[in-house]
Amino acid sequence: MRLLVTGGAGFIGANFVHQSVAEHPEVEVTVLDKLTYAGNRASLAGLGDAVTLVEGDVADGALVDRLVAEADAVVHFAAESHNDNSLADPWPFVQTNLIGTYALLEAVRKHDVRYHHVSTDEVYGDLELDDPQRFTERTPYNPSSPYSSTKAGSDLLVRAWVRSFGVRATISNCSNNYGPFQHVEKFIPRQVTNLIDGVRPKLYGAGANVRDWIHVEDHNAAVWRVLADGRIGQTYLIGADGERSNLEVVRALLEIFGRDADDFDHVSDRPGHDLRYAIDSTLLRTELGWSPRYTDFRSGLEATVAWYREHEDWWRPAKARVEAAYAVTGQA
Ligand code: NAD
Ligand code: DAU
Repeated sequence: MRLLVTGGAGFIGANFVHQSVAEHPEVEVTVLDKLTYAGNRASLAGLGDAVTLVEGDVADGALVDRLVAEADAVVHFAAESHNDNSLADPWPFVQTNLIGTYALLEAVRKHDVRYHHVSTDEVYGDLELDDPQRFTERTPYNPSSPYSSTKAGSDLLVRAWVRSFGVRATISNCSNNYGPFQHVEKFIPRQVTNLIDGVRPKLYGAGANVRDWIHVEDHNAAVWRVLADGRIGQTYLIGADGERSNLEVVRALLEIFGRDADDFDHVSDRPGHDLRYAIDSTLLRTELGWSPRYTDFRSGLEATVAWYREHEDWWRPAKARVEAAYAVTGQA
Protein backbone atom coordinates (compact mmCIF):
# COMPACT_ATOMS: atom_id res chain seq x y z
CA MET A 1 0.00 0.00 0.00
CA ARG A 2 1.24 3.50 -0.91
CA LEU A 3 0.24 6.06 1.70
CA LEU A 4 0.42 9.83 1.21
CA VAL A 5 0.74 11.53 4.61
CA THR A 6 0.35 15.31 4.58
CA GLY A 7 1.94 17.23 7.43
CA GLY A 8 4.14 14.23 8.24
CA ALA A 9 6.97 16.46 9.51
CA GLY A 10 4.71 17.96 12.20
CA PHE A 11 3.92 16.62 15.66
CA ILE A 12 1.13 14.09 15.11
CA GLY A 13 2.05 13.36 11.49
CA ALA A 14 5.67 12.50 12.35
CA ASN A 15 4.54 10.18 15.15
CA PHE A 16 2.10 8.61 12.67
CA VAL A 17 4.91 8.01 10.15
CA HIS A 18 7.16 6.42 12.82
CA GLN A 19 4.30 4.21 13.98
CA SER A 20 3.39 3.25 10.40
CA VAL A 21 6.95 2.23 9.54
CA ALA A 22 7.26 0.21 12.77
CA GLU A 23 3.87 -1.49 12.72
CA HIS A 24 2.92 -1.62 9.01
CA PRO A 25 6.15 -2.49 7.16
CA GLU A 26 4.17 -3.28 4.00
CA VAL A 27 3.29 0.41 3.64
CA GLU A 28 5.32 2.84 1.50
CA VAL A 29 5.00 6.33 2.94
CA THR A 30 5.30 9.61 1.04
CA VAL A 31 5.16 12.71 3.21
CA LEU A 32 3.97 16.00 1.72
CA ASP A 33 4.97 18.84 4.03
CA LYS A 34 5.60 22.55 3.49
CA LEU A 35 8.11 22.55 6.36
CA THR A 36 6.63 25.66 7.93
CA TYR A 37 7.98 26.77 11.31
CA ALA A 38 6.04 23.74 12.72
CA GLY A 39 7.55 21.14 10.39
CA ASN A 40 10.94 19.61 11.07
CA ARG A 41 12.93 17.22 8.88
CA ALA A 42 14.67 15.99 12.02
CA SER A 43 11.39 14.48 13.21
CA LEU A 44 11.65 11.95 10.36
CA ALA A 45 15.37 11.18 10.79
CA GLY A 46 16.43 7.54 10.83
CA LEU A 47 13.49 6.15 8.87
CA GLY A 48 15.57 5.37 5.78
CA ASP A 49 14.07 4.24 2.46
CA ALA A 50 10.64 3.51 3.91
CA VAL A 51 9.74 7.21 3.76
CA THR A 52 10.03 9.84 1.01
CA LEU A 53 9.68 13.48 2.02
CA VAL A 54 8.32 15.90 -0.61
CA GLU A 55 8.61 19.53 0.42
CA GLY A 56 5.53 21.32 -0.89
CA ASP A 57 2.18 22.92 -0.18
CA VAL A 58 -1.11 21.03 0.16
CA ALA A 59 -2.77 24.02 -1.51
CA ASP A 60 -0.65 23.46 -4.67
CA GLY A 61 -3.24 21.71 -6.84
CA ALA A 62 -0.83 20.43 -9.50
CA LEU A 63 1.60 18.92 -6.99
CA VAL A 64 -1.21 17.38 -4.95
CA ASP A 65 -2.79 15.90 -8.08
CA ARG A 66 0.50 14.21 -9.04
CA LEU A 67 1.13 12.78 -5.57
CA VAL A 68 -2.43 11.59 -5.03
CA ALA A 69 -2.38 9.83 -8.42
CA GLU A 70 0.51 7.69 -7.11
CA ALA A 71 -1.17 6.84 -3.76
CA ASP A 72 -3.64 4.18 -2.58
CA ALA A 73 -4.72 6.29 0.41
CA VAL A 74 -4.20 9.78 1.83
CA VAL A 75 -4.08 10.72 5.52
CA HIS A 76 -4.37 14.49 5.85
CA PHE A 77 -2.67 15.94 8.94
CA ALA A 78 -1.22 19.13 7.42
CA ALA A 79 -2.67 22.26 8.97
CA GLU A 80 -1.91 25.50 10.68
CA SER A 81 -2.63 24.15 14.15
CA HIS A 82 -2.05 26.75 16.88
CA ASN A 83 -4.95 28.85 18.22
CA ASP A 84 -2.74 31.69 19.46
CA ASN A 85 -1.17 32.10 16.00
CA SER A 86 -4.62 32.15 14.41
CA LEU A 87 -5.53 35.13 16.59
CA ALA A 88 -2.40 37.01 15.51
CA ASP A 89 -2.80 36.23 11.77
CA PRO A 90 -5.72 34.12 10.52
CA TRP A 91 -4.78 34.13 6.81
CA PRO A 92 -2.43 31.09 6.71
CA PHE A 93 -5.21 29.14 8.49
CA VAL A 94 -7.74 29.98 5.78
CA GLN A 95 -5.23 29.18 3.04
CA THR A 96 -3.85 25.88 4.37
CA ASN A 97 -6.79 24.45 6.27
CA LEU A 98 -9.51 25.32 3.75
CA ILE A 99 -7.82 25.67 0.33
CA GLY A 100 -5.38 22.84 1.14
CA THR A 101 -8.21 20.48 2.03
CA TYR A 102 -10.10 21.54 -1.10
CA ALA A 103 -7.05 20.71 -3.28
CA LEU A 104 -6.76 17.26 -1.70
CA LEU A 105 -10.47 16.54 -2.07
CA GLU A 106 -10.41 17.44 -5.75
CA ALA A 107 -7.43 15.12 -6.29
CA VAL A 108 -8.88 12.14 -4.39
CA ARG A 109 -12.15 12.68 -6.24
CA LYS A 110 -10.40 12.64 -9.63
CA HIS A 111 -8.24 9.59 -8.87
CA ASP A 112 -10.76 7.76 -6.63
CA VAL A 113 -8.31 7.46 -3.74
CA ARG A 114 -9.32 6.65 -0.15
CA TYR A 115 -9.00 9.73 2.08
CA HIS A 116 -8.84 10.16 5.85
CA HIS A 117 -9.28 13.64 7.27
CA VAL A 118 -7.65 14.37 10.64
CA SER A 119 -9.56 16.98 12.61
CA THR A 120 -10.14 18.33 16.07
CA ASP A 121 -12.74 18.36 18.84
CA GLU A 122 -12.54 22.17 18.75
CA VAL A 123 -15.04 22.19 15.87
CA TYR A 124 -17.72 21.59 18.53
CA GLY A 125 -16.89 24.73 20.51
CA ASP A 126 -16.64 24.35 24.29
CA LEU A 127 -18.54 22.95 27.27
CA GLU A 128 -19.30 24.34 30.72
CA LEU A 129 -17.11 22.89 33.46
CA ASP A 130 -20.09 21.16 35.11
CA ASP A 131 -21.83 19.99 31.90
CA PRO A 132 -22.44 16.22 32.25
CA GLN A 133 -22.45 15.86 28.45
CA ARG A 134 -19.39 15.29 26.32
CA PHE A 135 -18.92 15.80 22.57
CA THR A 136 -20.29 13.03 20.35
CA GLU A 137 -20.50 12.56 16.57
CA ARG A 138 -23.93 14.25 16.75
CA THR A 139 -22.85 17.44 18.55
CA PRO A 140 -23.55 20.55 16.40
CA TYR A 141 -20.56 22.47 15.07
CA ASN A 142 -19.86 25.72 16.97
CA PRO A 143 -16.18 26.69 16.55
CA SER A 144 -14.73 29.68 18.44
CA SER A 145 -11.38 30.66 16.93
CA PRO A 146 -10.00 31.29 13.43
CA TYR A 147 -8.15 27.97 13.79
CA SER A 148 -11.15 25.91 14.83
CA SER A 149 -13.47 27.58 12.33
CA THR A 150 -11.15 26.71 9.44
CA LYS A 151 -10.93 23.11 10.69
CA ALA A 152 -14.73 23.02 10.93
CA GLY A 153 -14.98 24.37 7.38
CA SER A 154 -12.55 21.72 6.15
CA ASP A 155 -14.63 18.95 7.79
CA LEU A 156 -17.74 20.28 6.05
CA LEU A 157 -15.95 20.25 2.70
CA VAL A 158 -15.16 16.57 3.28
CA ARG A 159 -18.78 15.76 4.15
CA ALA A 160 -19.99 17.56 1.01
CA TRP A 161 -17.46 15.79 -1.25
CA VAL A 162 -18.60 12.42 0.16
CA ARG A 163 -22.26 13.14 -0.41
CA SER A 164 -22.07 15.06 -3.70
CA PHE A 165 -19.21 13.26 -5.45
CA GLY A 166 -18.99 9.87 -3.73
CA VAL A 167 -15.48 10.50 -2.40
CA ARG A 168 -14.36 7.60 -0.16
CA ALA A 169 -13.55 9.61 2.98
CA THR A 170 -13.66 9.34 6.76
CA ILE A 171 -13.15 12.04 9.40
CA SER A 172 -11.76 11.83 12.93
CA ASN A 173 -12.00 14.56 15.56
CA CYS A 174 -9.53 14.15 18.39
CA SER A 175 -8.87 15.92 21.68
CA ASN A 176 -5.56 17.44 22.87
CA ASN A 177 -2.51 15.31 22.10
CA TYR A 178 0.76 15.14 24.02
CA GLY A 179 3.98 13.22 23.46
CA PRO A 180 7.29 13.44 21.57
CA PHE A 181 7.95 15.90 18.70
CA GLN A 182 5.33 18.45 19.81
CA HIS A 183 6.29 22.04 19.02
CA VAL A 184 7.41 24.17 22.00
CA GLU A 185 4.65 26.71 21.30
CA LYS A 186 2.07 24.24 22.68
CA PHE A 187 1.08 24.08 26.35
CA ILE A 188 2.84 20.96 27.65
CA PRO A 189 6.13 21.27 25.71
CA ARG A 190 6.27 24.97 26.53
CA GLN A 191 6.06 24.34 30.26
CA VAL A 192 8.39 21.31 30.14
CA THR A 193 11.08 23.28 28.29
CA ASN A 194 10.54 26.28 30.59
CA LEU A 195 11.13 24.01 33.58
CA ILE A 196 14.24 22.50 31.97
CA ASP A 197 15.47 26.11 31.57
CA GLY A 198 14.60 26.96 35.18
CA VAL A 199 11.75 29.29 34.07
CA ARG A 200 8.35 29.28 35.81
CA PRO A 201 5.44 27.73 33.83
CA LYS A 202 2.95 30.22 32.32
CA LEU A 203 -0.75 29.64 32.92
CA TYR A 204 -3.35 31.53 30.88
CA GLY A 205 -5.88 33.22 33.19
CA ALA A 206 -6.86 31.23 36.27
CA GLY A 207 -5.91 27.85 34.75
CA ALA A 208 -9.42 26.44 35.17
CA ASN A 209 -9.80 25.56 31.47
CA VAL A 210 -10.06 21.81 30.89
CA ARG A 211 -8.51 19.80 28.06
CA ASP A 212 -9.08 16.08 27.39
CA TRP A 213 -5.52 14.74 27.04
CA ILE A 214 -4.61 11.75 24.87
CA HIS A 215 -1.17 10.36 24.07
CA VAL A 216 -0.28 10.88 20.41
CA GLU A 217 0.35 7.13 19.90
CA ASP A 218 -3.21 6.36 20.99
CA HIS A 219 -4.55 9.00 18.58
CA ASN A 220 -2.56 7.51 15.71
CA ALA A 221 -3.58 3.94 16.53
CA ALA A 222 -7.18 5.13 16.25
CA VAL A 223 -6.46 6.82 12.91
CA TRP A 224 -5.12 3.48 11.63
CA ARG A 225 -8.27 1.69 12.84
CA VAL A 226 -10.49 4.21 11.01
CA LEU A 227 -8.37 4.06 7.87
CA ALA A 228 -8.56 0.26 7.84
CA ASP A 229 -12.16 -0.40 8.88
CA GLY A 230 -14.01 2.93 9.24
CA ARG A 231 -17.30 3.37 7.38
CA ILE A 232 -17.10 5.75 4.41
CA GLY A 233 -18.72 9.08 5.24
CA GLN A 234 -18.55 8.42 8.99
CA THR A 235 -17.06 10.73 11.63
CA TYR A 236 -15.29 9.11 14.63
CA LEU A 237 -14.41 10.97 17.82
CA ILE A 238 -11.08 10.05 19.41
CA GLY A 239 -10.50 10.59 23.12
CA ALA A 240 -9.04 8.75 26.10
CA ASP A 241 -11.06 10.08 29.07
CA GLY A 242 -8.17 12.37 30.02
CA GLU A 243 -9.85 15.52 31.30
CA ARG A 244 -7.53 17.75 33.36
CA SER A 245 -7.55 21.46 34.16
CA ASN A 246 -4.51 23.39 32.96
CA LEU A 247 -3.67 24.08 36.60
CA GLU A 248 -3.63 20.33 37.35
CA VAL A 249 -1.27 19.74 34.42
CA VAL A 250 1.10 22.50 35.55
CA ARG A 251 1.08 21.13 39.12
CA ALA A 252 1.86 17.61 37.84
CA LEU A 253 4.81 18.99 35.87
CA LEU A 254 6.07 20.97 38.86
CA GLU A 255 5.96 17.79 40.93
CA ILE A 256 7.86 15.82 38.27
CA PHE A 257 10.55 18.53 38.31
CA GLY A 258 10.64 18.58 42.12
CA ARG A 259 9.44 22.18 42.29
CA ASP A 260 7.00 23.88 44.63
CA ALA A 261 3.29 23.50 43.69
CA ASP A 262 2.85 27.30 43.40
CA ASP A 263 6.00 27.93 41.39
CA PHE A 264 4.20 29.22 38.26
CA ASP A 265 2.99 32.56 36.80
CA HIS A 266 -0.49 33.59 35.72
CA VAL A 267 -0.25 35.43 32.37
CA SER A 268 -2.77 37.15 30.06
CA ASP A 269 -5.62 34.90 29.02
CA ARG A 270 -6.27 33.86 25.39
CA PRO A 271 -9.07 35.97 23.85
CA GLY A 272 -12.17 33.78 23.35
CA HIS A 273 -10.45 30.96 25.30
CA ASP A 274 -12.53 27.75 25.07
CA LEU A 275 -13.41 26.59 28.58
CA ARG A 276 -13.62 22.81 28.32
CA TYR A 277 -13.34 20.01 25.77
CA ALA A 278 -14.50 16.45 26.53
CA ILE A 279 -14.83 13.51 24.14
CA ASP A 280 -17.21 10.57 24.20
CA SER A 281 -15.40 7.97 22.06
CA THR A 282 -17.99 5.19 22.46
CA LEU A 283 -18.51 4.76 18.70
CA LEU A 284 -14.81 4.27 18.00
CA ARG A 285 -14.45 1.82 20.89
CA THR A 286 -17.52 -0.28 20.16
CA GLU A 287 -17.46 -0.28 16.36
CA LEU A 288 -13.72 -0.41 15.70
CA GLY A 289 -12.49 -2.02 18.93
CA TRP A 290 -10.04 0.77 19.75
CA SER A 291 -8.93 1.53 23.30
CA PRO A 292 -6.07 3.70 24.58
CA ARG A 293 -2.82 2.16 25.84
CA TYR A 294 -1.75 5.28 27.77
CA THR A 295 -4.38 5.21 30.51
CA ASP A 296 -2.10 6.67 33.22
CA PHE A 297 -1.64 10.37 32.34
CA ARG A 298 1.09 10.83 34.94
CA SER A 299 3.38 8.15 33.47
CA GLY A 300 2.70 9.40 29.91
CA LEU A 301 3.69 12.88 31.11
CA GLU A 302 6.86 11.55 32.77
CA ALA A 303 7.86 9.78 29.53
CA THR A 304 7.22 13.01 27.60
CA VAL A 305 9.36 15.01 30.04
CA ALA A 306 12.14 12.43 29.61
CA TRP A 307 11.88 12.77 25.81
CA TYR A 308 12.32 16.57 25.97
CA ARG A 309 15.25 16.21 28.39
CA GLU A 310 16.92 13.80 25.93
CA HIS A 311 16.15 15.78 22.75
CA GLU A 312 17.20 19.34 23.53
CA ASP A 313 18.89 19.53 20.11
CA TRP A 314 15.43 19.01 18.55
CA TRP A 315 13.53 21.74 20.44
CA ARG A 316 16.16 24.30 21.41
CA PRO A 317 16.36 26.11 18.00
CA ALA A 318 12.65 27.12 18.23
CA LYS A 319 12.47 28.09 21.90
CA ALA A 320 13.70 31.72 21.94
CA ARG A 321 11.51 32.79 18.99
CA VAL A 322 8.40 31.25 20.57
CA GLU A 323 9.00 32.97 23.90
CA ALA A 324 9.65 36.31 22.14
CA ALA A 325 6.25 36.03 20.40
CA TYR A 326 4.51 35.22 23.70
CA ALA A 327 6.17 38.29 25.27
CA VAL A 328 4.43 40.51 22.69
CA THR A 329 0.96 39.21 23.71
CA GLY A 330 1.64 39.41 27.46
CA GLN A 331 1.77 35.61 27.76
CA ALA A 332 5.42 35.30 28.81
P1 NAD B 1 1.70 20.73 13.73
O1 NAD B 1 1.52 22.21 13.64
O2 NAD B 1 2.66 20.17 14.71
O3 NAD B 1 2.14 20.17 12.29
C1 NAD B 1 1.54 20.62 11.10
C2 NAD B 1 2.40 20.17 9.94
O4 NAD B 1 1.75 20.59 8.73
C3 NAD B 1 3.81 20.76 9.93
O5 NAD B 1 4.76 19.79 9.60
C4 NAD B 1 3.73 21.84 8.84
O6 NAD B 1 4.97 22.06 8.19
C5 NAD B 1 2.71 21.19 7.90
N1 NAD B 1 2.03 22.18 7.06
C6 NAD B 1 1.48 23.36 7.45
N2 NAD B 1 0.96 23.99 6.39
C7 NAD B 1 1.18 23.22 5.30
C8 NAD B 1 0.87 23.32 3.93
N3 NAD B 1 0.23 24.40 3.44
N4 NAD B 1 1.24 22.32 3.11
C9 NAD B 1 1.90 21.24 3.57
N5 NAD B 1 2.23 21.09 4.87
C10 NAD B 1 1.88 22.07 5.73
O7 NAD B 1 0.25 20.13 13.93
P2 NAD B 1 -0.22 18.84 14.76
O8 NAD B 1 -0.44 19.22 16.17
O9 NAD B 1 0.67 17.70 14.43
O10 NAD B 1 -1.67 18.60 14.12
C11 NAD B 1 -1.82 17.76 12.97
C12 NAD B 1 -3.28 17.68 12.61
O11 NAD B 1 -4.01 17.14 13.70
C13 NAD B 1 -3.93 19.03 12.31
O12 NAD B 1 -4.83 18.86 11.24
C14 NAD B 1 -4.67 19.38 13.57
O13 NAD B 1 -5.78 20.21 13.30
C15 NAD B 1 -5.08 18.01 14.05
N6 NAD B 1 -5.26 17.85 15.51
C16 NAD B 1 -4.29 18.23 16.38
C17 NAD B 1 -4.46 18.00 17.73
C18 NAD B 1 -3.38 18.37 18.74
O14 NAD B 1 -3.61 18.23 19.94
N7 NAD B 1 -2.19 18.81 18.33
C19 NAD B 1 -5.63 17.41 18.20
C20 NAD B 1 -6.64 17.05 17.27
C21 NAD B 1 -6.42 17.27 15.93
O1 DAU C 1 -8.40 20.02 21.22
C1 DAU C 1 -7.54 19.76 20.15
C2 DAU C 1 -6.65 20.96 19.90
O2 DAU C 1 -5.69 20.97 20.94
C3 DAU C 1 -5.99 20.92 18.54
O3 DAU C 1 -6.96 21.05 17.54
C4 DAU C 1 -4.97 22.06 18.39
O4 DAU C 1 -4.26 21.92 17.16
C5 DAU C 1 -3.98 21.98 19.54
O5 DAU C 1 -3.09 23.07 19.48
C6 DAU C 1 -4.74 22.00 20.87
O6 DAU C 1 -5.40 23.29 21.04
P1 DAU C 1 -5.35 24.08 22.45
O7 DAU C 1 -5.57 25.50 22.17
O8 DAU C 1 -6.21 23.39 23.45
O9 DAU C 1 -3.80 23.75 22.85
P2 DAU C 1 -2.64 24.63 23.50
O10 DAU C 1 -1.49 23.71 23.72
O11 DAU C 1 -2.38 25.89 22.76
O12 DAU C 1 -3.25 25.03 24.92
C7 DAU C 1 -3.77 24.06 25.81
C8 DAU C 1 -4.39 24.81 26.99
O13 DAU C 1 -3.34 25.43 27.75
C9 DAU C 1 -5.32 25.92 26.59
O14 DAU C 1 -6.39 25.99 27.53
C10 DAU C 1 -4.46 27.18 26.67
C11 DAU C 1 -3.53 26.86 27.81
N1 DAU C 1 -2.16 27.44 27.77
C12 DAU C 1 -1.45 27.34 26.62
C13 DAU C 1 -0.16 27.81 26.57
C14 DAU C 1 0.67 27.73 25.29
C15 DAU C 1 -1.63 27.99 28.92
O15 DAU C 1 -2.28 28.06 29.99
N2 DAU C 1 -0.34 28.44 28.88
C16 DAU C 1 0.43 28.38 27.75
O16 DAU C 1 1.60 28.81 27.77
